[in-house]
Amino acid sequence: MLNIGVIGAGRMGLNHSRNLRQLDTIKLAGVYDILPEKATAYANGFGAKIYQSPEELINAKDIGLIIITSPTYCHIEALRIALDAHKPIFCEKPLCRTQEELDELIPLITNYDNFFALGFVRRYSPNFAKMKEVVDSGELGKLLCGEIRCLHGRYVRMHGDWFADYDKCGGVMLDMLAHHVDLQNHLIGEAESIYAQSFMLNQNEDELPFDYVSATARFKNGFISNIQCSWLRNAPSDTEMTICGDKASITFSDSKGLLLTKGGKTEKIPVDEAALNIHKIQGGMYAEEMAYIVDAVINGKKPLAGAKEAIDAMTFCFGIMASAETGKLVKF
Ligand SMILES: NC(=O)c1ccc[n+]([C@@H]2O[C@H](COP(=O)([O-])OP(=O)(O)OC[C@H]3O[C@@H](n4cnc5c(N)ncnc54)[C@H](O)[C@@H]3O)[C@@H](O)[C@H]2O)c1
Repeated sequence: MLNIGVIGAGRMGLNHSRNLRQLDTIKLAGVYDILPEKATAYANGFGAKIYQSPEELINAKDIGLIIITSPTYCHIEALRIALDAHKPIFCEKPLCRTQEELDELIPLITNYDNFFALGFVRRYSPNFAKMKEVVDSGELGKLLCGEIRCLHGRYVRMHGDWFADYDKCGGVMLDMLAHHVDLQNHLIGEAESIYAQSFMLNQNEDELPFDYVSATARFKNGFISNIQCSWLRNAPSDTEMTICGDKASITFSDSKGLLLTKGGKTEKIPVDEAALNIHKIQGGMYAEEMAYIVDAVINGKKPLAGAKEAIDAMTFCFGIMASAETGKLVKF
C-alpha cells in the first residue's frame, strides 16, 4: 500500500485525490494545508491525517509519495523539504515561480536519487500519445513550423486571488503555456530563441485582470513556432497545437480531436481512448496521470515527465517571460 501525503488541499489537491481513491494500491494518508479549514475538509472527505507543517507530513515514516498542489509560488518551500527528505515527489506544474528558484532546483532534481514527476498531465492524453507517434513516424516530412493557441476567453479571477497575481502565478506565460511548451519540446527538440509581448497579467486595479501573450520561438533545428495564449474575459476559447511538415500537418485540438491535413484535405485521426486507458479508471487524462504515477512509484518506473522535462519547459517559459518583461529577444 502506497501512503500518499498531499500538500495544498485546494482545487488540484482534491481533483488528484478523487482520482487516486479509485486505486486499491494507495491510501490518502496525510494532508497539510496552510488554511486549517481546508485541511479539515480534506481529512473529513478522504480520511487522511492532518499534519501541522509540511516538514511533519513529509518526514512522517509511513508517507511514501508527496503530492505538491499548493499555489505555484509556494512549490519551492515544499520542494526544498521533500527533496531533502529523499521522498518520491509529484509536483503540480509549473515547477516554480522564478528563474532563481529554477536555478536552485536544477541540480537538486537532476541528481535526485528518488522518483520525481511534474504534473504535465497532457503527456497522459491518448490524443497526444498518437500525435507523438505520427510526428515520429516521419509522415509529416521535414518539420517546418507550428502553432500553439491556448485561448481562455471567460477568465473570471479577481484581484486578490493568487491566480490573478503575476508575481504569484506567472500569468498565462507560466501557468497556461507550461503544458504545451512541454509537448512542443517533446515533439520538436531544443529551442534556440524566443520573442514575446504580453500584458503580464495586468495588475491595474481600475481594470479587471486579464492576460495575453503573443510569441515567436525558433528551435535549433530551424522549426519556427507561433504562440498565442490568453486569459481574457469576453473572448473565444480554444486550445490547439499544430505541427506543419513539408508533407503533412497534424493538429491536436481540445474541441476537434486529432486532425491530419494532407493534399488539401483534413481528416480526423481515430484514437482509441479506451485502449490507451491502461488503468481503466474514470477521470480522463488527470486520472490516467495519477494511476501512472502510482504504478511508477510502486514498480520503480520513470514518469512521462520528470526532471529533464520540467527543466526544459520551465527554461522555455522563463525565457518567454524574460522577453515580455524586457522587450528583447531571449537566446537560450
Ligand atoms: N495540471 C493542471 O491542469 C493544473 C490545473 C490547475 C492548477 N494547476 C496547478 O496546481 C497548483 C495548485 O492550484 P489550485 O488551482 O489547486 O490552487 P488552489 O488555490 O485551489 O489551492 C491551493 C491550496 O493550497 C493551500 N496553500 C496555500 N499556501 C500554501 C502553503 N504555503 N503550503 C500548503 N498549502 C498552501 C491553499 O489554502 C489551497 O487550499 C498550482 O501550481 C497550479 O498552477 C495545475
